[in-house]
Amino acid sequence: MNNQPTVIKVCNGAGCNAWDASDILRDLPENVADFLENVKVCEVSCLKSCGGGVSIQLNEDNEKIVKIRKPHQAMDQILPHIASPIRA
Ligand code: FES
Repeated sequence: MNNQPTVIKVCNGAGCNAWDASDILRDLPENVADFLENVKVCEVSCLKSCGGGVSIQLNEDNEKIVKIRKPHQAMDQILPHIASPIRA
């Protein structure tokens, strides 16, 4: 079993900040904690994938840089990449 935390890196470089990265950094840690354990949200500088929204990298995987254009949609866009939600 893998006990390593899932790491979500949220870029707060100039380009991503223009897409309201600070709103994602403010809300995402608490929103993620409501759904998942063992997840860390980290602020990082430029991920060198500028443009088209806030860049979010999952577990150091350059193939999994998600672009968030609307901060309130961050959870909807990130969750499918890091979890299989349990359906009631
Ligand atoms: S400023 Fe965010 S990827 Fe460059």
